Amino acid sequence: MKTTVDCVIIGAGAAGMMCAATAGYAGASVLVVDHAPKAGAKIRISGGGKANFTNLNVTPEHYICRNPHFVKSALSRYRNQDFIELVERHGLAYEVREGGKLFCKEQASDLIQVLRTECDWAGVAFSLKTKVLSVTQQESGFALQCLTAEGERQILAKQLVVATGGLSFPKLKATGLGYELAKQFGLSVLPTRPGLVPLILQGHWAAQCEQLAGVSLAVRIAVADRAFEEAMLFTHHGISGPAVLQASNYWQKGKAITINLLPQFSTEALVQALLDLKQQNGRLATWLGQFWPKRFVKAWLDFAPLIEGQTVPKMAEVKNETLQAYAHRLQSWSLFPKETAGYDKAEVTLGGVDTDECSSQTMEAKKVSGLYFIGEVLDVTGHLGGHNFQWAWSSGVAAGLAVGQKLSF
Ligand code: FDA
Repeated sequence: MKTTVDCVIIGAGAAGMMCAATAGYAGASVLVVDHAPKAGAKIRISGGGKANFTNLNVTPEHYICRNPHFVKSALSRYRNQDFIELVERHGLAYEVREGGKLFCKEQASDLIQVLRTECDWAGVAFSLKTKVLSVTQQESGFALQCLTAEGERQILAKQLVVATGGLSFPKLKATGLGYELAKQFGLSVLPTRPGLVPLILQGHWAAQCEQLAGVSLAVRIAVADRAFEEAMLFTHHGISGPAVLQASNYWQKGKAITINLLPQFSTEALVQALLDLKQQNGRLATWLGQFWPKRFVKAWLDFAPLIEGQTVPKMAEVKNETLQAYAHRLQSWSLFPKETAGYDKAEVTLGGVDTDECSSQTMEAKKVSGLYFIGEVLDVTGHLGGHNFQWAWSSGVAAGLAVGQKLSF
């Protein structure tokens, strides 16, 4: 079977569908190819099944990219507000949660329906359960050799958009095809690693995790030159929760993360509170129990002596000068994670197709006319909070408009 279209998009995920609808509305005949049985698999499970689809506060500072300026153009041309207006036009019920995060009120599949409807209205065709065997460049564009349940299918297209995402969640059919295609066309790909991912602990604390699994604490985690104040959650093997996922994007193997376990206190206020406790002859465990679950208070006092090599004496016996060191220990707990939980548990992939290879206006490869890379396959990773989907929408629209414009020449 042979199909000829203006534009073929590999990847029926967030970016691919957004690009497809935009290019379709711009007059292009569009075919979206995906090896998965359904479009938008990651959207379906995202945000705990409710898809945190954008954020009220989207700025370039929420993105990690070797060229921090790259995201500016696409994000300013298709803003969070544009996507909010789109879902409102479809009557999607949503709610705003802490930190300006927007979630579907009912289920993430409602959002997939919005995108599928947009694609239908724009005349986009889908070829799911389709394996891409090869991609070659021809004088008139690109030729894809594919395998479907009905047999081999050749797709000829003037323009090719690669929207295959990153390596995270291989069980949802994530592959490195996008990186391989970039290399095939002579584009550089920056090393990849799991992002927004739990961290595995080692030593004493690894042994404690089994007992502490499920314990949640409000913390501030500092890593590299960043700090994130959100919840931290103990898992059976390490730590997770929003603060840890955010920190994981900046953590490098062999380096420490520093956890402030009482971020609600300034250092001076904490020292004063400990001094008051001493004067009242209070118990540290009872006092800490106001802020932490009992299980963590016990583990902390057993395993993290407040002063190196010394367990906690009665508060009344602590010298005033020592209180400063206690406060420091509570607010600067250094942990050296062993590793991340890997791509199986990572929400995103850091690194990818080097943005220097693509136009920041159109996402088109500078070296290969008619070839585009959008979404997570690029070296663009957002913070937690809807920023990754916003990048998928913005980069998808940028490429979709460019596909349409190129047709008119
Ligand atoms: P995406 O991964 O969505 O799509 C890629 C498509 O390409 C897939 O359909 C895949 O099947 C297809 N594909 C891959 N290889 C192929 C091949 N060889 N042949 C054919 N097709 C191929 N972000 C956010 O902003 N808010 C949130 O709430 C969440 N929550 C979340 C939870 C979990 C568990 C995960 C794993 C991820 C998130 N994310 C998120 C991240 C978000 O899902 C992600 O950034 C976007 O889906 C990226 O969109 P893309 O379209 O680039 O890739």
